[in-house]
Amino acid sequence: MMNLEMDWWPIIAAVLAVLAVVYYRVTRNFDFFKKRGIPYAKPMPFLRSMWEVVFQRQPFAEGVEKMYNLDPESKYIGFFEFETPILLIRDLDLIKSITVKNFDHFTNHKMIFEPDLEPLFSKNLFSLCDERWREVRNMLTPAFTSSKLKSMFVLMHECAKEYGDYFASLPTDQSILELKDAFTKYTNDVIATCAFGIDVNSMKNPKNAFYVYGTEANNFGGSSQSLRFFAVIRLPWLCRLFGIRIIKQKIVDFFKELVVSTMKARDENGIVRPDMLQLIMETRGKLGARQRVAFVFFFGGFESTATLMCFAAYEVGIDDQVQKRLQEEIDQLLEDCKGQVTYEAINGMKYLEAVILESLRMYPAVVGSDRVCVKPFELPPRVPGAKPYVVQQNDNVWIPICGIQHDPQYYPEPKKFNPDRFYDDPKHIFNSSSFLSFGLGPRMCIGNKFGLLETKVLLFYIFAKCDLAPCAKSSIPLKLDRKGFAMTSENGFWLKIQPRKFNAKKAEPR
Ligand code: HEM
Repeated sequence: MMNLEMDWWPIIAAVLAVLAVVYYRVTRNFDFFKKRGIPYAKPMPFLRSMWEVVFQRQPFAEGVEKMYNLDPESKYIGFFEFETPILLIRDLDLIKSITVKNFDHFTNHKMIFEPDLEPLFSKNLFSLCDERWREVRNMLTPAFTSSKLKSMFVLMHECAKEYGDYFASLPTDQSILELKDAFTKYTNDVIATCAFGIDVNSMKNPKNAFYVYGTEANNFGGSSQSLRFFAVIRLPWLCRLFGIRIIKQKIVDFFKELVVSTMKARDENGIVRPDMLQLIMETRGKLGARQRVAFVFFFGGFESTATLMCFAAYEVGIDDQVQKRLQEEIDQLLEDCKGQVTYEAINGMKYLEAVILESLRMYPAVVGSDRVCVKPFELPPRVPGAKPYVVQQNDNVWIPICGIQHDPQYYPEPKKFNPDRFYDDPKHIFNSSSFLSFGLGPRMCIGNKFGLLETKVLLFYIFAKCDLAPCAKSSIPLKLDRKGFAMTSENGFWLKIQPRKFNAKKAEPR
């Protein structure tokens, strides 16, 4: 007995010593901001400043807002991502200075995955750095011009019309619907047709491989996927050992093969279609661009756009006044264009645009964005009288999109859904640093016009053909989900869908 106890002591001492070293390494930076006189959100060892988010006690968006409100006087504050200190920029001029004027100091996003573990993420435009990013961005930009969008409008219009018809034809006993599922299917079908050049109808055929693999690859919410994210970022060696990936290899192979075989079929049969694959075929050979364009849509545009559609349709569906005004605008357009809906007509709808921008403001799918400093940059003092602060190379700064867009000094009554904020002057938002849902500067979202257009067409057909109303399963006001990092509703987006009645005077959409 005596011997056994004595044998254990060295092991216990060694374990304690290792724990002490690990604890020291993890916490040694925790006085980083204190030493520099910058207010900061206190971290929890091994977790981060937003530990309430990690424990699912608070939605991610609210965690960001809480940090943003930590010191309303300060131009910037600090927080910790695990043991790494990060500067959260609160001041709008400073945000503009970092993202636009001094972009050459803050060119990249932080690489969160090791390239060999998540090659698709790592090669995506969002993750590329410096010259490589510039080359690929320049190559992709022509894919998003107004004329390209206009030609793709024809394709997305077909999808939206089908979804409008589907909603309007729901039998009474199935008229209570969860919107996220339906809208994810719609964004999937739009990406399939506009980016990969294939037609799928996921509402009629929810088992199609494009949809099944697509939703699996884009599922960033939920506890198990959050755990995978955590493992791939924090414990890459373990993931390598056990072959843990966020996106399974069979999914990567499926989409690669799809692009290659569709291009081959088009070459052989001389098929030309107004989609992204056509563009890839025209720029073949450049920068190994074959699958890249299509994948940009896939990882950028799938979840974020479906999220926007859900929040927008939900807010309209639970507010009679807003719905009435939107439907009046829709009916007027249908009357003017005799049921023939065009790209120009949809883009001229002021109230529809205001509804969408207000949804983006209240519920930004990306709650914060980051920049990595590539050459040292001096920030002005955080408050008058304080010292300036120099951001060093490789330091990370953060833009709290959600906090700014919920700040009453920029948006009075920020928790109120009020499309009128954007009705009279929607265009200024794209230059304003208080509207950041698509980011700002040269690294702003490349697909923003595409995302807006596909949302406009969908909402147009849904509200042209249906009335949406709250049901017993609707939660009002809506509660944000506390699981995972995706911006979504805790209980889903449930509404009652009823077909609208058309009379002889009212033109029905064709
Ligand atoms: C409404 C939906 C969308 C929202 C809210 C959104 C939001 C964002 C945000 C906040 C960023 C980071 C910008 C920054 O750091 O300054 C971003 C980047 C990006 N988005 Fe989107 N996005 C949406 C739709 C799309 C679509 C439809 C696509 C593709 C067709 C797309 C592709 C991208 C790409 C590739 C980047 C990286 C750009 C770069 O680093 O150069 N997004 N998006």
